[in-house]
Amino acid sequence: MKKIGVLTSGGDAPGMNACVRAVVRCGINSGLEVVGIRRGYCGILEEDFVKLSSRSVANIIYRGGTILETARCEEMKTGDGVKKAGEVLRRQSIEGLITIGGDGTLRGATALAEAKNVRVISVPSTIDNDVYGTDYTIGFDTAINTALDAIDKIRDTAGSLHRLFFVEVMGRTRGFIALEVGIAGGAEDILIPEVETRIDQLSLDIERSFKRGKRSSIVIVAEGDEAGGAFSIAQQVWERLKLEYRICVLGHVQRGGSPTARDRVLASKFGASAVNALVKGMSGYMVGEMKGEMVVTPLRETWEKRKELDSDLLRLVKVLAG
Ligand code: F6P
Repeated sequence: MKKIGVLTSGGDAPGMNACVRAVVRCGINSGLEVVGIRRGYCGILEEDFVKLSSRSVANIIYRGGTILETARCEEMKTGDGVKKAGEVLRRQSIEGLITIGGDGTLRGATALAEAKNVRVISVPSTIDNDVYGTDYTIGFDTAINTALDAIDKIRDTAGSLHRLFFVEVMGRTRGFIALEVGIAGGAEDILIPEVETRIDQLSLDIERSFKRGKRSSIVIVAEGDEAGGAFSIAQQVWERLKLEYRICVLGHVQRGGSPTARDRVLASKFGASAVNALVKGMSGYMVGEMKGEMVVTPLRETWEKRKELDSDLLRLVKVLAG
């Protein structure tokens, strides 16, 4: 193998640049030519390629977003799109492809790997952390720290005015972000899609917490919670308690910013491991880390299997809310 491609796809995540840097430098170290593909799978279909050198990835390890840019490519969800992508890569003599992204990226990578035109290794990167086959995805640690910083600030004002806040965090259909920032931010309650939300019980808990002498109450709402987003849930609680509240939807600030040290290290390890896997002749796997060990998982399993939440952490929420 002489030439490999690297792309970032789907929602950007802090640490993607650190991973691109690792792929480029480890690739060159293994004697490979490394080509960057702009805007994810769309860049393959539009043949938007850029040759990358060690210098082209200088000073990007600390930058959020992705220098390769990204996209959610509808055409790659079709058989024709996958076929065309395989043909383009073959014509460009790109024998190995490293994809960096979350669920949608992994589905595209699976289709490409199964078409067998090119060897494919994927790296999990999404703030949502909702990928089977790795304990953590690149970007999650930064996102929870960004959200936590905001929640700590909200606690200052909530405590000063004895207020109830509903803070909505991202996470797509899963509650990984909500659970960890809820624990770390000392939330009074955490509402996640994995656990049924009972508005009557939630209202009772909030009322009791103020009666116990608490000066503020922060409820973390995962955007995918089945009872609705923060606005809908806050309104339902208002109907029961008639208690003044404020809402804060953290939104896309959670996706930006300089990656934490943990994300930079994880991204560097994953990038190196992806190059090693290609050099060994592997294809159709995602690299990951489980219980501190580097592992690989067949691509299809990464989105067909469901990653479970930490049930011990879930149980802790109520106890710690005191
Ligand atoms: O997958 C990352 C993510 O930020 C999710 O948490 C969120 O649901 C989604 O992307 C938002 O996507 P967009 O930037 O397209 O609005």
